Amino acid sequence: MNYQDFYKNSIDNPQDFWKEQSEELDWFVKPSKILSNTKDGYHQWFEDGETNLSYLCIDKHIKDGFGHQNAIIYDSPVTNTKQKITYHELYDQVSKLAGGLQSLGLQKGDTVIIYMPMIPQAVFAMLACVRIGVIHSVVFGGFAPHELAIRIDDCKPKAVITASSGIEIDRIIPYKPFVDEAINQASHKPKNVIVFNRHLKADIPKKNYDIDYTELVNSSKSVPAISVESTHPSYILYTSGTTGTPKGIIRDTGGYATALKFSMRYVYGVNPGDVFWAASDVGWVVGHSYIVYAPLINRNTTILFEGKPIRTPDASTFWRVISEHSVNVMFTAPTAIRAIKKEDPHGRFIKQFDLSCLKYQFLAGERCDVATLQWTQTHLNVPVIDHWWQTESGWPMLANMVGVAQEDVKPGSATFPVCGYDIRILSEDGEETTNSAEGYVAVKLPLPPGTLMSLWGNPERFKKGYLDRFPGYYFSGDGGYQDEDGYIFITGRVDDVINVAGHRLSTAEMEEVVAAHAAVAECAVFGVHCDLKGQKPLGLIVLKSELDQDVSNIQKDIIKRVRHEIGAVASFKDVLVVERLPKTRSGKILRKLLRNIADELNYNIPSTIDDPNIIEEIKVVYQNHQIGIHKN
Ligand code: COA
Ligand code: AMP
Repeated sequence: MNYQDFYKNSIDNPQDFWKEQSEELDWFVKPSKILSNTKDGYHQWFEDGETNLSYLCIDKHIKDGFGHQNAIIYDSPVTNTKQKITYHELYDQVSKLAGGLQSLGLQKGDTVIIYMPMIPQAVFAMLACVRIGVIHSVVFGGFAPHELAIRIDDCKPKAVITASSGIEIDRIIPYKPFVDEAINQASHKPKNVIVFNRHLKADIPKKNYDIDYTELVNSSKSVPAISVESTHPSYILYTSGTTGTPKGIIRDTGGYATALKFSMRYVYGVNPGDVFWAASDVGWVVGHSYIVYAPLINRNTTILFEGKPIRTPDASTFWRVISEHSVNVMFTAPTAIRAIKKEDPHGRFIKQFDLSCLKYQFLAGERCDVATLQWTQTHLNVPVIDHWWQTESGWPMLANMVGVAQEDVKPGSATFPVCGYDIRILSEDGEETTNSAEGYVAVKLPLPPGTLMSLWGNPERFKKGYLDRFPGYYFSGDGGYQDEDGYIFITGRVDDVINVAGHRLSTAEMEEVVAAHAAVAECAVFGVHCDLKGQKPLGLIVLKSELDQDVSNIQKDIIKRVRHEIGAVASFKDVLVVERLPKTRSGKILRKLLRNIADELNYNIPSTIDDPNIIEEIKVVYQNHQIGIHKN
């Protein structure tokens, strides 16, 4: 097949194209309306169709005679556990848990928060929710109770599903106490907390709202998957934006299933029955789409890995998992490869394993530097595919679509637009750029199926943040350019969102915590380059005058607060004290300038700066502190 023709057809005839793709799914009610408009004038897919994600992920395959195939392989080096779960067993666990949720009064349209480590019960919980039309919102375990509380107040769950604890390498993470603390902080109070006891000797404080997960499953009857509208929200996934408040991305059901099924075949080149591994976490979009829903809809075996690329126990873990479970296609973040490369620069561990099963290595989640791409290619000796997408899209927007035809790669580029995404690079005033000029990466509407429907409880923010900047387009928040051969290069975010070890975080949110410290007069938090994590946050603070506190204690206290309020995942470890911050004459802090100086990039001193002498002051502070910019 020819990529250009296939792609062009998806853009010129979206209705026919996606109608054909939707026929790859089992629908309870087949859609007759393919593309239509909501009352707000935004588009929606397969409006009058009805299906169920849990049915598509489980029941369909059992009906087709594949109940004995492994659905999930749970591999947990941190607990020394390996467990294979067939589609039959998945059915048993999910349908009973769904019955248990119904017995607690949960019904279609209700919300549930899932705050769990990478264990099979997290996947069961997601599938049990969608089975009965309950909208789940999975919160990444690296977020602190305060962040969980914000999400509880925003989506008002009737229940929270959690586990007694998680494990970070060898450290117990107290999930249940975190949930209790979050509920304590939140105004909304969920009726129940369903706790899966991992028996890892963690402290499990007892509360009146607790329900034991295992007892609930064992005492419940299996329930069938209910028929839900294609446009019924399957989940809310919070992601960082440019303000301190996270945004709840809403995903539909039928459009999402159609897009995921399509992507497994045409983007990832995966056949039903293959083993697929996305080394991410269920708390991120990669986890939703490519640990859970896409591989299960496509009848693959999905790997659920509870560990790290290094230190669990060493930099050979990824290759051990691929070889042992015969992984055909793998997906990870460049930062994980950088971590491995640092420990094993000559790829000696790789040579110890038979990796002949592996067809493709996909990378995404952050910009992939050329050195990482080339190292991976050399040592794995399979096509390494950098592809670009985001929580909002739910599935890839730029990729080398290996299931269609393998294109030549240009390192640094995520190759071409994926079918359905009419990607344009726009200038400040919304004109299309030419001659590889850098601009804003936007997608001409309508977006293909599977992309975000709106923001939970905040359609105005959805419109303002994504649609108003360039009328007729969805604005991705990324900058980039397209070269003369049509290859698109993503250069990074154009807003205050940063990407730390593949984790998307908001500097505005960190800045709010820093600014709230009693000793801080003003501050700026921004992302600087990090060899390992891609970016890391750096805080600059101006202290209030006449303080008698020790400065290093203030710095330590601020770091502790960010960890306590946002979570360890923020990796906020550097705070520098400056006399003043560079600002425009109208008082706006010049964050981009601060970042460019830290990263030793070329910069222009804006003519609007209130005092150019401040640049030298800042440079001296950076030099004196040797804070590890450019280091790990
Ligand atoms: N629960 C609790 N804490 C967590 C957590 C979780 N699920 N995930 C991370 N953390 C903690 C870590 O323990 C660490 O705490 P510390 O500061 O006390 O050491 C902190 O959050 C930062 O974690 P991380 O960014 O993962 O850094 P790291 O130094 O532990 O590991 C890498 C570095 C590169 C090995 C690791 O980040 C990695 O594997 N990244 C790949 C990420 C990825 O796949 N992203 C998905 C997007 S596709
Ligand atoms: P998230 O929503 O957490 O998946 O983060 C999405 C953001 O990560 C995008 O908007 C980009 O800024 C960045 N990103 C993801 N994949 C890539 C990639 N392949 N190249 C460059 N940036 C990427």
